[in-house]
Amino acid sequence: MIKKGIILSGGFGTRMSPLTKAVNKQLLPLYDKPLIYYPLSVLMLAGIKNILIIVNKGQLQQFKKILPEKNNLGIQIKYKEQEKPKGLPEAFIIGEKFIGEENVALILGDNFFYGQNLSKLLFECAKLKNGAKIILHGVQNPELFGVAKINKKNKKILKIIEKPKKYVSNQAITGLYFFDKKVVNYAKRLKPSKRGELEIIDLINQYKKNNRLKAEFIGRGGAWLDTGSINDYYKTSAFVQAVENRQGLKIACIEEIAFLNGWIKKKEINNQIKFYGNCEYSNYLRKLIK
Ligand code: TTP
Repeated sequence: MIKKGIILSGGFGTRMSPLTKAVNKQLLPLYDKPLIYYPLSVLMLAGIKNILIIVNKGQLQQFKKILPEKNNLGIQIKYKEQEKPKGLPEAFIIGEKFIGEENVALILGDNFFYGQNLSKLLFECAKLKNGAKIILHGVQNPELFGVAKINKKNKKILKIIEKPKKYVSNQAITGLYFFDKKVVNYAKRLKPSKRGELEIIDLINQYKKNNRLKAEFIGRGGAWLDTGSINDYYKTSAFVQAVENRQGLKIACIEEIAFLNGWIKKKEINNQIKFYGNCEYSNYLRKLIK
């Protein structure tokens, strides 16, 4: 099982400016909790307890206030800074020591996943031994994403293209990836693209070339929503609000996931209630341990 995961939480956040001028995007509220709770909950649902959060230079203290290294979640959190946003594969260069000789998951700090069978899918992905696995989701505007052309019969990945001008497939590559330990060396060998960044597509293509790339599909019952632009951000926020208010259950309550995974007990939940203070989120935690 993959035991380590990286959350890449830096970035310019240009499209969300001026909101992101003073505050990192991942710390902005997505309805009732900071955005970073959502990717963190995805890793936790995959059973991953050993987590590296990569942030922009100078933003460590902001993050540690809400997710301290010593925490009540039964997980180990470490931090590293990224000098400048130089591309997603840099996560594996910055994270080399953290990764060591093990396989690793990467999730982008602004990615939102939700769905009925998500836990099962994540658990399956975490079983990866060799190669790489990407998660695909059908979208209406594939020209805006990295996409994968698939052989419908055997679900083999035929081609991977960044922002295709002509239609090749509607299967977008989401911001959640599972890699074997070779990823560090592959990332180190990448050359910056025309826009001066290391590209995740180039990294994935290394695995494709060696016939070591597999895909999983989120499918109809699930959602992968954008949080890049202000409009998308608020749409996703409204989605969380609608689901939570209808079901009376929270999406991405990290304490609930830790509790259900058996990683923490009532005592830690009570510590979190004290930490959050008197708020609706604390009321939810109180109900959980009643
Ligand atoms: P992007 O969507 O590429 O960039 P961004 O979120 O900073 O926004 P914008 O395009 O508006 O400037 O990044 C996706 C996620 O990955 C986001 O959470 C930021 C993070 N990221 C890093 O932490 N470091 C990087 O070098 C890059 C490219 C992204």
